[in-house]
Amino acid sequence: MISVAGATLLAATAVAAALPKGIPLHLDHGFWYTKFSVGHQDFNLTVDTGSFAVLISQGLYKPTPVSNSTNQGEFLQFNGASADGTAPASEVFTFVHDDVKFDGIGVQGFLVGNITNGDPLPADGIIGFSPPATDITDPDDPTFLAGQSLVQAICDEEKISPCEFGLALKTDGTGTLSFGPLDKSKVKGKLTTLPTFSHDAWQVNNSSEADSPILVLNGKSFGDIVATFDNGTPNIIGPLETVRAALQAAGYDLQEVTSDDITTVLGTYDCSRPPARFGFSFPPSTEVHYVDANANVLNRTADGKVCTANVLGTSTLDVPQWQIGQTWFQGRWVQHNLDKSTIAFADLRSVR
Ligand SMILES: *[C@@H]1O[C@H](CO)[C@@H](O)[C@H](O)[C@H]1NC(C)=O
Ligand SMILES: *[C@@H]1O[C@H](CO)[C@@H](O)[C@H](O)[C@H]1NC(C)=O
Ligand SMILES: *[C@@H]1O[C@H](CO)[C@@H](O)[C@H](O)[C@H]1NC(C)=O
Ligand SMILES: *[C@@H]1O[C@H](CO)[C@@H](O)[C@H](O)[C@H]1NC(C)=O
Ligand SMILES: *[C@@H]1O[C@H](CO)[C@@H](O)[C@H](O)[C@H]1NC(C)=O
Ligand SMILES: *[C@@H]1O[C@H](CO)[C@@H](O)[C@H](O)[C@H]1NC(C)=O
Repeated sequence: MISVAGATLLAATAVAAALPKGIPLHLDHGFWYTKFSVGHQDFNLTVDTGSFAVLISQGLYKPTPVSNSTNQGEFLQFNGASADGTAPASEVFTFVHDDVKFDGIGVQGFLVGNITNGDPLPADGIIGFSPPATDITDPDDPTFLAGQSLVQAICDEEKISPCEFGLALKTDGTGTLSFGPLDKSKVKGKLTTLPTFSHDAWQVNNSSEADSPILVLNGKSFGDIVATFDNGTPNIIGPLETVRAALQAAGYDLQEVTSDDITTVLGTYDCSRPPARFGFSFPPSTEVHYVDANANVLNRTADGKVCTANVLGTSTLDVPQWQIGQTWFQGRWVQHNLDKSTIAFADLRSVR
Protein backbone atom coordinates (compact mmCIF):
# COMPACT_ATOMS: atom_id res chain seq x y z
CA MET A 1 0.00 0.00 0.00
CA ILE A 2 2.69 2.43 0.98
CA SER A 3 4.69 1.90 -2.20
CA VAL A 4 1.62 2.46 -4.36
CA ALA A 5 0.89 5.72 -2.61
CA GLY A 6 4.54 6.67 -2.92
CA ALA A 7 4.58 5.87 -6.63
CA THR A 8 1.45 7.95 -7.20
CA LEU A 9 2.94 10.85 -5.32
CA LEU A 10 6.16 10.70 -7.31
CA ALA A 11 4.30 10.53 -10.60
CA ALA A 12 2.15 13.47 -9.58
CA THR A 13 5.19 15.49 -8.57
CA ALA A 14 6.96 14.70 -11.81
CA VAL A 15 3.96 15.77 -13.88
CA ALA A 16 3.37 18.86 -11.76
CA ALA A 17 6.98 19.91 -12.29
CA ALA A 18 6.41 19.85 -16.05
CA LEU A 19 3.36 22.10 -15.76
CA PRO A 20 3.52 25.79 -16.61
CA LYS A 21 5.02 27.88 -13.81
CA GLY A 22 1.89 29.95 -13.55
CA ILE A 23 -0.70 31.20 -16.01
CA PRO A 24 -0.63 35.01 -16.09
CA LEU A 25 -3.67 36.93 -14.88
CA HIS A 26 -4.40 40.63 -15.28
CA LEU A 27 -6.64 42.85 -13.10
CA ASP A 28 -8.95 45.41 -14.66
CA HIS A 29 -11.78 47.16 -12.78
CA GLY A 30 -12.25 44.44 -10.17
CA PHE A 31 -11.88 41.36 -12.39
CA TRP A 32 -8.93 39.07 -13.13
CA TYR A 33 -8.58 38.07 -16.78
CA THR A 34 -6.90 35.17 -18.55
CA LYS A 35 -6.67 33.78 -22.08
CA PHE A 36 -8.63 30.62 -22.90
CA SER A 37 -8.97 29.00 -26.32
CA VAL A 38 -12.02 27.18 -27.65
CA GLY A 39 -11.50 25.59 -31.06
CA HIS A 40 -9.63 28.25 -33.06
CA GLN A 41 -10.95 31.16 -31.01
CA ASP A 42 -9.09 32.94 -28.21
CA PHE A 43 -11.24 34.38 -25.47
CA ASN A 44 -10.41 36.77 -22.66
CA LEU A 45 -12.26 35.40 -19.63
CA THR A 46 -12.78 36.40 -16.01
CA VAL A 47 -11.34 33.89 -13.56
CA ASP A 48 -14.14 33.15 -11.09
CA THR A 49 -13.78 30.80 -8.12
CA GLY A 50 -17.41 31.56 -7.28
CA SER A 51 -18.98 29.74 -10.25
CA PHE A 52 -18.61 26.36 -11.89
CA ALA A 53 -18.72 26.48 -15.69
CA VAL A 54 -16.90 28.06 -18.61
CA LEU A 55 -19.33 30.52 -20.22
CA ILE A 56 -18.80 32.49 -23.43
CA SER A 57 -20.69 35.78 -23.85
CA GLN A 58 -23.67 35.88 -26.17
CA GLY A 59 -22.85 35.88 -29.87
CA LEU A 60 -19.10 35.23 -29.58
CA TYR A 61 -18.87 31.43 -29.84
CA LYS A 62 -18.43 29.92 -33.34
CA PRO A 63 -18.80 26.16 -33.80
CA THR A 64 -15.88 24.13 -35.19
CA PRO A 65 -15.81 20.85 -37.19
CA VAL A 66 -15.25 18.82 -33.98
CA SER A 67 -17.86 20.64 -31.87
CA ASN A 68 -21.41 19.54 -31.20
CA SER A 69 -24.24 20.96 -29.17
CA THR A 70 -25.80 19.15 -26.20
CA ASN A 71 -28.99 21.24 -26.23
CA GLN A 72 -28.66 21.12 -22.45
CA GLY A 73 -27.81 23.98 -20.15
CA GLU A 74 -29.27 26.21 -17.49
CA PHE A 75 -30.17 29.68 -16.33
CA LEU A 76 -27.84 31.42 -13.87
CA GLN A 77 -27.94 34.68 -12.00
CA PHE A 78 -24.70 36.33 -11.00
CA ASN A 79 -24.18 39.02 -8.39
CA GLY A 80 -21.37 41.52 -8.69
CA ALA A 81 -20.97 41.70 -12.48
CA SER A 82 -19.66 45.29 -12.31
CA ALA A 83 -16.50 46.77 -10.77
CA ASP A 84 -18.38 48.10 -7.73
CA GLY A 85 -20.12 44.75 -7.19
CA THR A 86 -23.64 46.13 -7.60
CA ALA A 87 -24.71 44.84 -11.04
CA PRO A 88 -26.60 41.56 -11.32
CA ALA A 89 -26.37 39.51 -14.54
CA SER A 90 -28.75 36.81 -15.79
CA GLU A 91 -27.51 34.26 -18.31
CA VAL A 92 -29.21 31.48 -20.28
CA PHE A 93 -26.82 29.08 -21.98
CA THR A 94 -26.50 25.68 -23.62
CA PHE A 95 -23.35 23.59 -23.61
CA VAL A 96 -21.34 22.58 -26.64
CA HIS A 97 -18.57 19.97 -26.69
CA ASP A 98 -15.44 21.50 -28.15
CA ASP A 99 -11.67 21.17 -27.82
CA VAL A 100 -10.23 23.75 -25.45
CA LYS A 101 -6.75 24.87 -24.54
CA PHE A 102 -5.60 26.66 -21.39
CA ASP A 103 -1.99 27.80 -21.50
CA GLY A 104 -0.91 24.79 -23.53
CA ILE A 105 -2.99 22.20 -21.66
CA GLY A 106 -5.55 20.74 -24.04
CA VAL A 107 -8.85 19.07 -23.14
CA GLN A 108 -10.87 17.41 -25.91
CA GLY A 109 -14.64 17.66 -26.07
CA PHE A 110 -14.92 19.92 -23.03
CA LEU A 111 -18.35 21.34 -22.16
CA VAL A 112 -18.34 25.04 -23.01
CA GLY A 113 -21.37 27.18 -22.16
CA ASN A 114 -22.63 29.14 -25.16
CA ILE A 115 -24.74 32.01 -23.79
CA THR A 116 -27.86 32.34 -25.93
CA ASN A 117 -29.51 35.13 -23.96
CA GLY A 118 -27.75 37.16 -21.32
CA ASP A 119 -26.70 40.42 -19.72
CA PRO A 120 -23.24 41.78 -20.53
CA LEU A 121 -20.40 40.05 -18.66
CA PRO A 122 -16.87 41.39 -18.19
CA ALA A 123 -14.83 40.90 -21.43
CA ASP A 124 -15.70 37.61 -23.25
CA GLY A 125 -17.21 35.61 -20.39
CA ILE A 126 -16.36 33.59 -17.31
CA ILE A 127 -14.05 30.70 -16.51
CA GLY A 128 -15.36 29.01 -13.36
CA PHE A 129 -13.21 27.40 -10.66
CA SER A 130 -15.69 26.61 -7.89
CA PRO A 131 -16.08 23.06 -6.55
CA PRO A 132 -18.54 20.98 -8.65
CA ALA A 133 -22.25 21.80 -8.62
CA THR A 134 -24.30 19.56 -6.29
CA ASP A 135 -26.60 18.63 -9.16
CA ILE A 136 -24.84 18.27 -12.48
CA THR A 137 -28.00 16.91 -14.15
CA ASP A 138 -31.65 16.82 -13.17
CA PRO A 139 -33.54 13.57 -13.85
CA ASP A 140 -36.81 15.55 -13.99
CA ASP A 141 -35.46 18.06 -16.50
CA PRO A 142 -33.52 16.53 -19.42
CA THR A 143 -32.52 20.02 -20.64
CA PHE A 144 -30.68 20.84 -17.39
CA LEU A 145 -26.90 20.53 -17.29
CA ALA A 146 -24.64 22.40 -14.83
CA GLY A 147 -21.47 21.93 -16.86
CA GLN A 148 -18.08 20.41 -16.23
CA SER A 149 -15.23 21.33 -13.91
CA LEU A 150 -12.27 22.67 -15.86
CA VAL A 151 -9.92 22.06 -12.92
CA GLN A 152 -11.02 18.44 -12.65
CA ALA A 153 -10.63 17.95 -16.42
CA ILE A 154 -7.11 19.42 -16.30
CA CYS A 155 -6.17 17.34 -13.23
CA ASP A 156 -7.39 14.20 -15.06
CA GLU A 157 -5.56 15.16 -18.25
CA GLU A 158 -2.27 16.03 -16.49
CA LYS A 159 -2.64 13.41 -13.70
CA ILE A 160 -2.45 16.03 -10.96
CA SER A 161 -3.24 14.38 -7.63
CA PRO A 162 -4.51 15.71 -5.30
CA CYS A 163 -6.43 17.96 -7.66
CA GLU A 164 -5.57 21.51 -6.63
CA PHE A 165 -4.75 24.96 -7.93
CA GLY A 166 -3.42 28.19 -6.49
CA LEU A 167 -4.19 31.81 -7.16
CA ALA A 168 -1.43 34.28 -6.44
CA LEU A 169 -2.89 37.76 -6.93
CA LYS A 170 -0.45 40.59 -6.35
CA THR A 171 -1.20 44.17 -5.35
CA ASP A 172 0.06 45.58 -8.66
CA GLY A 173 -2.70 44.10 -10.85
CA THR A 174 -0.74 41.05 -11.98
CA GLY A 175 -1.22 37.50 -10.81
CA THR A 176 -0.87 33.84 -11.65
CA LEU A 177 -2.97 30.69 -11.59
CA SER A 178 -1.02 27.45 -11.02
CA PHE A 179 -2.25 23.88 -11.18
CA GLY A 180 -0.71 21.42 -8.72
CA PRO A 181 0.76 22.03 -5.28
CA LEU A 182 1.47 25.35 -3.58
CA ASP A 183 4.83 26.82 -4.51
CA LYS A 184 6.38 27.29 -1.05
CA SER A 185 9.15 29.50 -2.44
CA LYS A 186 6.54 32.16 -3.29
CA VAL A 187 5.06 32.53 0.21
CA LYS A 188 6.21 33.57 3.66
CA GLY A 189 4.86 33.23 7.21
CA LYS A 190 2.20 30.85 8.42
CA LEU A 191 -0.05 28.81 6.17
CA THR A 192 -3.71 28.87 7.25
CA THR A 193 -5.72 25.84 6.15
CA LEU A 194 -9.52 25.78 6.36
CA PRO A 195 -12.03 23.01 5.61
CA THR A 196 -14.43 24.02 2.85
CA PHE A 197 -17.60 22.61 1.31
CA SER A 198 -17.07 19.85 -1.22
CA HIS A 199 -19.65 21.34 -3.62
CA ASP A 200 -20.88 24.59 -5.14
CA ALA A 201 -18.67 27.18 -3.43
CA TRP A 202 -15.39 27.64 -1.59
CA GLN A 203 -17.37 28.14 1.61
CA VAL A 204 -15.70 27.57 4.98
CA ASN A 205 -17.17 24.42 6.55
CA ASN A 206 -17.14 25.42 10.23
CA SER A 207 -18.36 22.65 12.53
CA SER A 208 -19.81 25.05 15.13
CA GLU A 209 -20.35 28.75 15.70
CA ALA A 210 -17.20 28.84 17.83
CA ASP A 211 -14.93 27.89 14.92
CA SER A 212 -16.66 30.04 12.31
CA PRO A 213 -14.79 32.88 10.60
CA ILE A 214 -14.94 36.34 12.21
CA LEU A 215 -15.35 39.70 10.51
CA VAL A 216 -12.83 42.12 11.99
CA LEU A 217 -13.05 45.91 11.84
CA ASN A 218 -10.05 47.89 13.07
CA GLY A 219 -8.84 45.03 15.26
CA LYS A 220 -12.25 44.36 16.87
CA SER A 221 -14.57 41.44 16.18
CA PHE A 222 -17.67 42.46 14.25
CA GLY A 223 -19.31 39.05 14.58
CA ASP A 224 -19.27 35.43 13.41
CA ILE A 225 -19.91 34.92 9.74
CA VAL A 226 -20.41 32.29 7.05
CA ALA A 227 -17.55 32.98 4.65
CA THR A 228 -17.29 32.13 0.96
CA PHE A 229 -14.03 32.81 -0.86
CA ASP A 230 -14.67 34.09 -4.36
CA ASN A 231 -12.00 35.87 -6.39
CA GLY A 232 -14.59 36.62 -9.11
CA THR A 233 -16.38 39.00 -6.74
CA PRO A 234 -14.82 42.44 -7.13
CA ASN A 235 -15.06 43.45 -3.46
CA ILE A 236 -15.95 42.29 0.04
CA ILE A 237 -19.71 41.79 0.17
CA GLY A 238 -21.91 41.32 3.22
CA PRO A 239 -25.54 41.59 4.32
CA LEU A 240 -27.05 45.09 4.09
CA GLU A 241 -27.68 45.59 7.81
CA THR A 242 -24.28 44.30 8.97
CA VAL A 243 -22.37 46.40 6.42
CA ARG A 244 -24.47 49.46 7.26
CA ALA A 245 -23.58 49.03 10.95
CA ALA A 246 -19.90 48.42 10.19
CA LEU A 247 -19.62 51.49 7.93
CA GLN A 248 -21.33 53.61 10.59
CA ALA A 249 -19.00 52.25 13.27
CA ALA A 250 -16.10 53.29 11.00
CA GLY A 251 -17.53 56.81 10.83
CA TYR A 252 -18.30 56.60 7.10
CA ASP A 253 -21.21 58.26 5.28
CA LEU A 254 -23.71 55.77 3.86
CA GLN A 255 -24.57 55.77 0.14
CA GLU A 256 -27.68 53.65 -0.25
CA VAL A 257 -29.30 52.81 -3.57
CA THR A 258 -32.45 50.75 -4.23
CA SER A 259 -33.16 49.47 -7.72
CA ASP A 260 -35.21 46.47 -8.89
CA ASP A 261 -35.97 45.66 -5.22
CA ILE A 262 -32.26 45.25 -4.41
CA THR A 263 -30.76 47.68 -1.90
CA THR A 264 -27.00 48.20 -1.78
CA VAL A 265 -24.88 50.34 0.53
CA LEU A 266 -21.37 51.72 0.14
CA GLY A 267 -19.48 54.02 2.50
CA THR A 268 -17.65 57.25 1.67
CA TYR A 269 -15.08 59.06 3.80
CA ASP A 270 -12.59 61.91 3.75
CA CYS A 271 -9.50 60.46 2.00
CA SER A 272 -7.20 62.38 4.37
CA ARG A 273 -8.34 60.36 7.42
CA PRO A 274 -6.94 56.91 8.19
CA PRO A 275 -9.30 54.41 6.50
CA ALA A 276 -11.05 51.70 8.48
CA ARG A 277 -9.42 48.32 8.08
CA PHE A 278 -11.57 45.32 7.23
CA GLY A 279 -10.28 41.80 7.69
CA PHE A 280 -11.09 38.28 8.75
CA SER A 281 -9.82 35.84 11.33
CA PHE A 282 -10.22 32.09 11.37
CA PRO A 283 -10.39 30.46 14.82
CA PRO A 284 -8.65 28.92 16.65
CA SER A 285 -6.03 31.39 15.34
CA THR A 286 -6.59 35.00 16.41
CA GLU A 287 -4.44 36.41 13.63
CA VAL A 288 -6.30 38.99 11.52
CA HIS A 289 -5.92 38.83 7.73
CA TYR A 290 -6.69 42.34 6.48
CA VAL A 291 -7.56 43.56 3.02
CA ASP A 292 -4.56 45.32 1.46
CA ALA A 293 -4.76 49.06 2.22
CA ASN A 294 -4.86 50.11 -1.45
CA ALA A 295 -7.41 47.46 -2.45
CA ASN A 296 -9.56 48.82 0.41
CA VAL A 297 -10.48 51.86 -1.71
CA LEU A 298 -13.01 51.39 -4.53
CA ASN A 299 -12.55 54.88 -5.99
CA ARG A 300 -11.99 58.54 -5.10
CA THR A 301 -13.33 61.79 -6.51
CA ALA A 302 -11.20 63.60 -9.12
CA ASP A 303 -9.97 66.08 -6.49
CA GLY A 304 -8.83 63.13 -4.34
CA LYS A 305 -10.92 64.29 -1.37
CA VAL A 306 -13.75 61.76 -1.10
CA CYS A 307 -13.00 58.04 -1.02
CA THR A 308 -15.44 55.13 -1.39
CA ALA A 309 -14.60 52.03 0.65
CA ASN A 310 -14.50 48.74 -1.24
CA VAL A 311 -17.01 47.00 1.04
CA LEU A 312 -20.51 46.48 -0.30
CA GLY A 313 -23.67 45.70 1.65
CA THR A 314 -26.54 44.11 -0.26
CA SER A 315 -30.06 42.96 0.53
CA THR A 316 -29.39 39.85 -1.60
CA LEU A 317 -27.17 38.36 1.15
CA ASP A 318 -28.75 37.05 4.37
CA VAL A 319 -27.03 37.40 7.75
CA PRO A 320 -24.39 35.99 8.43
CA GLN A 321 -23.30 35.33 4.77
CA TRP A 322 -20.18 37.12 3.48
CA GLN A 323 -18.30 36.87 0.20
CA ILE A 324 -14.58 37.39 0.47
CA GLY A 325 -13.78 38.87 -2.92
CA GLN A 326 -10.65 39.63 -4.93
CA THR A 327 -9.58 42.65 -2.86
CA TRP A 328 -8.80 40.31 0.02
CA PHE A 329 -6.90 37.89 -2.27
CA GLN A 330 -4.41 40.63 -3.22
CA GLY A 331 -1.00 39.97 -1.66
CA ARG A 332 -1.80 36.34 -0.89
CA TRP A 333 -1.40 32.88 -2.36
CA VAL A 334 -4.73 31.05 -2.03
CA GLN A 335 -4.56 27.31 -2.64
CA HIS A 336 -7.76 25.42 -3.52
CA ASN A 337 -7.87 21.65 -3.02
CA LEU A 338 -10.81 19.87 -4.69
CA ASP A 339 -10.00 16.41 -3.32
CA LYS A 340 -9.52 17.38 0.33
CA SER A 341 -12.02 20.26 0.21
CA THR A 342 -9.71 22.84 1.74
CA ILE A 343 -8.56 26.37 1.14
CA ALA A 344 -5.09 27.27 2.37
CA PHE A 345 -3.48 30.69 2.19
CA ALA A 346 -0.31 32.55 3.08
CA ASP A 347 1.18 35.96 2.35
CA LEU A 348 3.11 36.31 -0.90
CA ARG A 349 6.83 36.89 -0.48
CA SER A 350 6.70 39.48 -3.23
CA VAL A 351 3.41 41.39 -3.56
CA ARG A 352 4.29 43.42 -6.66
C1 LIG B 1 -9.04 41.30 -21.31
O1 LIG B 1 -10.06 42.24 -20.98
C2 LIG B 1 -9.69 43.17 -19.98
C3 LIG B 1 -10.92 43.98 -19.63
O2 LIG B 1 -11.47 44.59 -20.73
C4 LIG B 1 -8.52 44.01 -20.46
O3 LIG B 1 -8.08 44.86 -19.43
C5 LIG B 1 -7.38 43.11 -20.88
O4 LIG B 1 -6.33 43.86 -21.44
C6 LIG B 1 -7.83 42.06 -21.86
N1 LIG B 1 -6.73 41.13 -22.09
C7 LIG B 1 -6.35 40.77 -23.30
C8 LIG B 1 -5.19 39.82 -23.39
O5 LIG B 1 -6.89 41.20 -24.29
C1 LIG C 1 -24.54 29.66 -29.70
O1 LIG C 1 -25.43 30.69 -29.33
C2 LIG C 1 -25.86 31.50 -30.41
C3 LIG C 1 -26.69 32.63 -29.79
O2 LIG C 1 -25.83 33.54 -29.11
C4 LIG C 1 -26.64 30.68 -31.40
O3 LIG C 1 -27.01 31.47 -32.50
C5 LIG C 1 -25.74 29.52 -31.88
O4 LIG C 1 -26.49 28.67 -32.70
C6 LIG C 1 -25.20 28.73 -30.72
N1 LIG C 1 -24.24 27.77 -31.21
C7 LIG C 1 -24.27 26.48 -30.88
C8 LIG C 1 -23.26 25.62 -31.53
O5 LIG C 1 -25.07 26.03 -30.07
C1 LIG D 1 -20.06 15.29 -29.21
O1 LIG D 1 -18.75 15.49 -28.68
C2 LIG D 1 -18.43 14.63 -27.59
C3 LIG D 1 -17.09 15.07 -27.02
O2 LIG D 1 -16.17 15.37 -28.02
C4 LIG D 1 -18.42 13.19 -28.07
O3 LIG D 1 -18.13 12.34 -26.98
C5 LIG D 1 -19.79 12.85 -28.63
O4 LIG D 1 -19.76 11.56 -29.19
C6 LIG D 1 -20.19 13.85 -29.73
N1 LIG D 1 -21.57 13.60 -30.12
C7 LIG D 1 -21.95 13.56 -31.38
C8 LIG D 1 -23.40 13.30 -31.63
O5 LIG D 1 -21.16 13.75 -32.31
C1 LIG E 1 -18.53 19.64 6.38
O1 LIG E 1 -17.68 18.90 7.24
C2 LIG E 1 -18.32 17.76 7.80
C3 LIG E 1 -17.38 17.18 8.83
O2 LIG E 1 -16.12 16.93 8.29
C4 LIG E 1 -18.66 16.80 6.68
O3 LIG E 1 -19.31 15.66 7.19
C5 LIG E 1 -19.60 17.50 5.72
O4 LIG E 1 -19.88 16.68 4.60
C6 LIG E 1 -18.98 18.80 5.21
N1 LIG E 1 -19.99 19.53 4.44
C7 LIG E 1 -19.87 19.78 3.14
C8 LIG E 1 -21.04 20.49 2.50
O5 LIG E 1 -18.88 19.52 2.46
C1 LIG F 1 -20.95 28.08 11.13
O1 LIG F 1 -20.85 29.43 11.54
C2 LIG F 1 -22.01 30.21 11.33
C3 LIG F 1 -21.67 31.62 11.72
O2 LIG F 1 -21.27 31.66 13.05
C4 LIG F 1 -23.19 29.63 12.11
O3 LIG F 1 -24.36 30.39 11.83
C5 LIG F 1 -23.39 28.19 11.72
O4 LIG F 1 -24.40 27.61 12.51
C6 LIG F 1 -22.10 27.40 11.89
N1 LIG F 1 -22.27 26.04 11.35
C7 LIG F 1 -22.34 24.98 12.14
C8 LIG F 1 -22.49 23.65 11.46
O5 LIG F 1 -22.32 25.06 13.37
C1 LIG G 1 -17.49 55.43 -6.80
O1 LIG G 1 -18.25 54.25 -7.01
C2 LIG G 1 -19.61 54.35 -6.62
C3 LIG G 1 -20.24 53.00 -6.84
O2 LIG G 1 -20.17 52.61 -8.16
C4 LIG G 1 -20.31 55.45 -7.43
O3 LIG G 1 -21.63 55.60 -6.97
C5 LIG G 1 -19.55 56.76 -7.28
O4 LIG G 1 -20.12 57.73 -8.13
C6 LIG G 1 -18.07 56.57 -7.61
N1 LIG G 1 -17.37 57.81 -7.28
C7 LIG G 1 -16.50 58.34 -8.12
C8 LIG G 1 -15.86 59.59 -7.65
O5 LIG G 1 -16.24 57.86 -9.22
